[in-house]
Amino acid sequence: MTRSKLNYILIFFFFNLSNIFAQNKVDHAINYCEKQALNTLKSIPNDSLNIPRSIAEGEYNWRFVDYRDWCSGFWPGTLWYLFEGTHNPKFKTSADKFSRELSPLSMQKAFDHDLGFQIFNSFGNGYRLTGNEEYKKVILATADTLATLFNPKVGTILSWPRAVPNMEWPQHNTIIDNMINLEMLFWASKNGGSKRLYDIAVSHALVTMKNHFRSDYTSYHAVVYDKATGKKIKGVTHQGYADNSMWARGQSWAIYGYTMCYRETKNPLFLDFAQKVTDTYLKDLPPDLIPYWDFNDPGIPNVPRDASAAAVVASALLELSTLVKEPSKASMYREKAETMLSSLSSDAYQSRTTNNAFLLHSTGHKPAGSEIDAAIIYADYYYIEALLRLKKLKIGKSIYAPI
Ligand code: GLY
Repeated sequence: MTRSKLNYILIFFFFNLSNIFAQNKVDHAINYCEKQALNTLKSIPNDSLNIPRSIAEGEYNWRFVDYRDWCSGFWPGTLWYLFEGTHNPKFKTSADKFSRELSPLSMQKAFDHDLGFQIFNSFGNGYRLTGNEEYKKVILATADTLATLFNPKVGTILSWPRAVPNMEWPQHNTIIDNMINLEMLFWASKNGGSKRLYDIAVSHALVTMKNHFRSDYTSYHAVVYDKATGKKIKGVTHQGYADNSMWARGQSWAIYGYTMCYRETKNPLFLDFAQKVTDTYLKDLPPDLIPYWDFNDPGIPNVPRDASAAAVVASALLELSTLVKEPSKASMYREKAETMLSSLSSDAYQSRTTNNAFLLHSTGHKPAGSEIDAAIIYADYYYIEALLRLKKLKIGKSIYAPI
């Protein structure tokens, strides 16, 4: 037996003994999500503004957006995950319908980098589960569109091709969130798209690794580059507390993004970096492991949490726990992920009868006063993704195999 196989078996046994978040609790949480989503489906308006995005604190009804919104892919993606987790055909029909609403994005000029969040979460999950060739065409066309934002002088994708405060437009800006959209480029390059898409994704990840992080591995939200020379001009925030603070969701995008980059490239630099940005994040969490919206807000503990960052990190750590080489590190990441999911599944964070989302207490854009302590669709998406990943691990499957 090879050493890695032995490690895998030891880790499998260890976790199925440790049971921080037991399999019946995972199943219960998936059933809960099914019930909430079926209620949401009943509340969808017959309108082009029909994609659930968020529910303000203290309110019951979703705010709906259309396909152009950066969050438009999370709802169809959530429905695809629910189809995978429950095999309820109603979810397949709705996931297909809501995914198709996003098709125009594959034919239009890029509005910004969010195309991966939009098209890969929807059509990407749909293709993974059905093999529908129409979905594949949409993903391939959109990956090419995303690639039009790549600036070879800088080596990264232009995240916001428009004037945004503090970004010195028309200079080049890149935000840490953009790491997630690389997954669609990696996928496209392996599934009939150009090899250049892979090179763009690798370049973006390497240049971001060099310029986007402080010496303690905390991330800037945005970096502005000279678009002609590629020189870094400055690191700043947009949604965080301050230019030098660690905005929780920004760090969660880095953790998820570099874990995914290692999966796609097997470049050990990415695995090492994923662990560095993760270990920095894990150092300073409250006891329930759900972060405050920004780690450096001086008002902590009297400031909002961000359940969405916790859901993103829980999902990423489940993957990272299967990729790291040292069993002690793997078990630490798995344990943290299970604790995060256990907290998120408690009455402190699940929406239950408050509204039909899965989770409360996410923070969207605090400096703009928007979606503070709210239910937000991307928290739900990464929560159900993480629950399915954990279920697969508990039954001895790879997180990449369908249930
Ligand atoms: N990508 C925007 C956000 O994380 O809020």
